[in-house]
Amino acid sequence: MLCVSAILFASIFRECSARPDKLVNNRPIIGILTQEVQDPDMKPYGRTYIPSSYVKYIESGGGRVIPIRLNQTREDHEKTFKSVNGLLLIGGTVDLQTSDFAHAAKIYFRLALKANDVGDYFPIWGTCLGFQLLTVLVAEENLLSKTPAENISLPLNFTSEAASSRMFEAFPPELLTALSQEALAANFHHFGVTDQMFMRNEKLRSFFSVLSLNKAENGVVFVSTMEGRKYPFYGVQWHPEVNRFQWNPLYSFPHSRNAERMSSLLAEFFVNEGRRSSHHFIQAEEESKELIYNYNPLYVANFTSYEQIYFF
Ligand SMILES: *[C@@H]1O[C@H](CO)[C@@H](O)[C@H](O)[C@H]1NC(C)=O
Ligand SMILES: *[C@@H]1O[C@H](CO)[C@@H](O)[C@H](O)[C@H]1NC(C)=O
Ligand SMILES: *[C@@H]1O[C@H](CO)[C@@H](O)[C@H](O)[C@H]1NC(C)=O
Ligand SMILES: *[C@@H]1O[C@H](CO)[C@@H](O)[C@H](O)[C@H]1NC(C)=O
Repeated sequence: MLCVSAILFASIFRECSARPDKLVNNRPIIGILTQEVQDPDMKPYGRTYIPSSYVKYIESGGGRVIPIRLNQTREDHEKTFKSVNGLLLIGGTVDLQTSDFAHAAKIYFRLALKANDVGDYFPIWGTCLGFQLLTVLVAEENLLSKTPAENISLPLNFTSEAASSRMFEAFPPELLTALSQEALAANFHHFGVTDQMFMRNEKLRSFFSVLSLNKAENGVVFVSTMEGRKYPFYGVQWHPEVNRFQWNPLYSFPHSRNAERMSSLLAEFFVNEGRRSSHHFIQAEEESKELIYNYNPLYVANFTSYEQIYFF
């Protein structure tokens, strides 16, 4: 029996709640990696972008954001790594192996592995394409296959490992029940990693716990939520930022009270992970110069599914 009830969750969480409070940094900054613009309609506005929904997501969790530009040298990225307290890999459409987005993500991923190995806590979160990229970085090959779930919201089919997860630790039992019964997780993907592929791959299986599964439109079961067994790396094939920060009525963006709470708790969770990182900018002026507040998002609701996008 892979599914667990919310009651079981609640009791297990209570037992684990003795986890010591390791939070130290109350001014966490999360780096969001920019991505190459692919949509021809967006091209006139910039070469790279970040939808503002991801920025608001981090800000709503109590963190600040710096956009990480793709056209930087390796040394620049290393410097940025030492200045931020976590990395968010956004959804999108670029190639998982050959894009500048993938190349830059790999630099941070490797630095984060090394850092965490020596007790320098550094969390990474991947959403949708970001989730897929984490699987490619860990497996060192592309294991994606067709798992279409485009514009469909689904209840999460939790695995037994979810009960002892960090991601859902702060969720009240009734919200976990809602997440497992109501269609709150917004899916916008054509590809994913199937349950079978994941379990057959030793690297993936030993690196990540699978926390939830879902069924695609073609009946294939894909991994929808995962977290690192040893490393503070988290992946959702779905989009927790849309529940509070995307409103286009033509898309399935769940906005119920439970959907908003789920989105809030996950944003808070990841920013809290960032509080455990002591990375910081050397100079206050440098920090001010890099923060997202230096940029203005553009109104794009009349030609994209987003309301606002930061272009770079
Ligand atoms: C990256 O692009 C920005 C904007 O076009 C530019 O200001 C910056 O100098 C570029 N950096 C590098 C390292 O090329
Ligand atoms: C949940 O996942 C389990 C294990 O793969 C599967 O047997 C079950 O049918 C799934 N339930 C739903 C509702 O998707
Ligand atoms: C997305 O899904 C919603 C809800 O099922 C539906 O009403 C809408 O037409 C879909 N939009 C697109 C662009 O397919
Ligand atoms: C979208 O709206 C903005 C601001 O009102 C306007 O400048 C722009 O031309 C519009 N774009 C399209 C493609 O309609």
